[in-house]
Amino acid sequence: MTIPDKQLISLTEKYQTPLYCYEAELIKKRYHELYSFIPYSKLRIYYAMKANYNLHILKLLEKEAARIDAVSPGDVYMALKAGFSTERILFTANKISDAEMHEVQSLGVLFNIGSLSRLEKYAKAYPGSEVCIRFNPDVVAGGHEFIKTGGEATKFGILLSNVEKVVAIANEHGLKIVGIHEHTGSGIPETVQMQKGMKNILGIITPARFPHLNFVDFGGGFKVVYHPDENQVDYETFGKEVVELFTDFCSKFGRELEMYFEPGKYLVAESGKLLVEVTTVKQNRSKLIAGVNSGFAQLIRPMFYSAYHHIRNLSNPDGKLMTYDIVGNICESGDCFASNRELPEIREGDILVIETAGAYCYSMGSVYNMRAMPSEVLVDGAVDTLIRKRLSSLELVEKIVGESE
Ligand code: LLP
Repeated sequence: MTIPDKQLISLTEKYQTPLYCYEAELIKKRYHELYSFIPYSKLRIYYAMKANYNLHILKLLEKEAARIDAVSPGDVYMALKAGFSTERILFTANKISDAEMHEVQSLGVLFNIGSLSRLEKYAKAYPGSEVCIRFNPDVVAGGHEFIKTGGEATKFGILLSNVEKVVAIANEHGLKIVGIHEHTGSGIPETVQMQKGMKNILGIITPARFPHLNFVDFGGGFKVVYHPDENQVDYETFGKEVVELFTDFCSKFGRELEMYFEPGKYLVAESGKLLVEVTTVKQNRSKLIAGVNSGFAQLIRPMFYSAYHHIRNLSNPDGKLMTYDIVGNICESGDCFASNRELPEIREGDILVIETAGAYCYSMGSVYNMRAMPSEVLVDGAVDTLIRKRLSSLELVEKIVGESE
């Protein structure tokens, strides 16, 4: 299914580099795959749009009947622009301000509230309304320290031990708790950790506490393969186990509830690539350094999480293998995509592809050092569509000047 290298090269000629390019079919495949792995009739997939909020990717998933996990008013407006109706958006309200609360509430989107104080404020402002409550699953798991969201050291969710406080606030103000939510972390390496979080959450749910419950949302965290030697997690087996667990739970609860998941990475990470051009090759005594026309402002995961992204030399695939540091064009020494990486000989002008760049790459980008973010292209078979155009340097400056006046 992957885009042939020849096509990638021609995209760089057509659109220039740096260039983000996404494969439409793979996004759809991953989305539908989850439905087949988790055979539960009331399964709903909410795409965590923080992973990649490109309008056209949102539209693509909208057409597939996906729903949206939004985390800011901007996310909500963007999802609405892409065609998602308010009923298909869940707003995870993390550390929101009162102004943000009122703004999003006026749009009619369901809130997922993760702190007692926000719940109290929401209940007072909107008594009688429906809400979802985010609990902390009390499991510490995730691909890196920064992306573990469970356990007492994190800022997310209400501790399970506070469940009675939640119920009391809801009852006092007539809130209907229609959903219970948890999210354990991102890139969770072992499915048992996800299952532990799920069991912990299910452990506090009773019909007496939550008579209005419609769904349980188990968050995101599905892992993808970044390194060629990594094995993919067996989500097929996981899916079957989860359905058994949830079906058992529902029969004890007395009603068939909806089951939500909120994957970000799993749906879009592998679909994306960042294509860059080598501008400088430098021999520093024993060290070979290849510098490219992009940097951590445009793809921060290696620098921020020490994340591995596979890199290939598209222009010289059969060249002699040599060891390189692949560095960016930002004026900081930490601006490095890969250290001591073996690649076929790299020459100035070569095109490199940084793989698995569809999730949390463009979306975490900035214009640090005043370079505009790359263009984005969506590839569907032989057809490519420019889905976001790079600003020229002058356009970027004018935009910033405009915002400053
Ligand atoms: N639901 C909630 C409430 C979340 O906080 C997140 C991610 C997700 C769902 C989606 O998680 P995913 O399926 O994508 O793992 N920037 C990091 C990942 C941060 C994830 C933040 N929350 C990275 O590049 O690895």
